[in-house]
Amino acid sequence: MKTKLVVANWKSNKTISEATAWVQAFRQLAKKENRQYVVCPPLPLLPFILDLKQDGVAMGVQDLSPFGAGAYTGEVSGYSLQDLGISHAILGHSERRKYFQESSVLVAQKVTQALDFGIQPIVCVDREQIEEQAAALSADEKKKVIIAYEPVHAISTFGGKEDPIEVTLAVIEKIRDTFGKESVILYGGSVNPENSIVYLEHEAIDGALVGGASLIAEQFTQL
Ligand code: PGA
Repeated sequence: MKTKLVVANWKSNKTISEATAWVQAFRQLAKKENRQYVVCPPLPLLPFILDLKQDGVAMGVQDLSPFGAGAYTGEVSGYSLQDLGISHAILGHSERRKYFQESSVLVAQKVTQALDFGIQPIVCVDREQIEEQAAALSADEKKKVIIAYEPVHAISTFGGKEDPIEVTLAVIEKIRDTFGKESVILYGGSVNPENSIVYLEHEAIDGALVGGASLIAEQFTQL
C-alpha cells in the first residue's frame, strides 16, 4: 500500500503538559508503516512538540495569514512559520469558513502565501465549495494544493454523520475532475480507529484529516 498522509488537527485544544504527554505516548505507540504524519497543534504549543520532527513527523498550522510579513496585527505570516519549521498549513477549514466568514477567495490568498514560503497548503472543501475554490486558484496552485474533502455533516462536532463510501468516492472523483487527475486528496470527518480502514485502505484516498481522534495518541496511532 502506498504511504498515506495522516494529519492531526488539534483545533483549539491542549495545554503544554497535555501536549507533551501526547508526544510521549505517540513515540511509544506509533508503529504503523506506510504513514506520513503531520501534527497541527494550536500555535503556542508548537515549540513544545517541535522535536517530533526528529521522529519524521511533519509540523503544520491550522491557518496562515493572507499577507506576508508586515503591519498585519494578530496574523501569523508564512515568513515566520517557515522559519519555525512548519511544512504544512490547513487552510479554509469549515470552522474557519463558518465562524470567521472565510471565503474561497481569501483561502486562495492564503494558498499563495503558503506556497511563497514553501509551506504545503491543505485546502479543505465541502461539496459546494469544490468549483468555487478551484476557480479562485491559479492553474499552478490547483496542481500544488492537497485537498481535504470534509463533508461538514460528517465532522464529529457537527453531528458526525458519515456518508456511504460510494457517495464519498463520487465526490472525490469530482474533486479530481476539477483540480486535476494527479491531486492528492485526503478525507476528513469523524475518522477514527473503527472506520479508518474504509478510508485509508482505499486507493482513491491519499490520507485523512483527523480532529477528535487526533487528540488521543492511542487513537491517532491506530489510524
Ligand atoms: P473530526 O474533525 O475528525 O473530529 O470529525 C475533522 C476536522 O474537523 O478536521
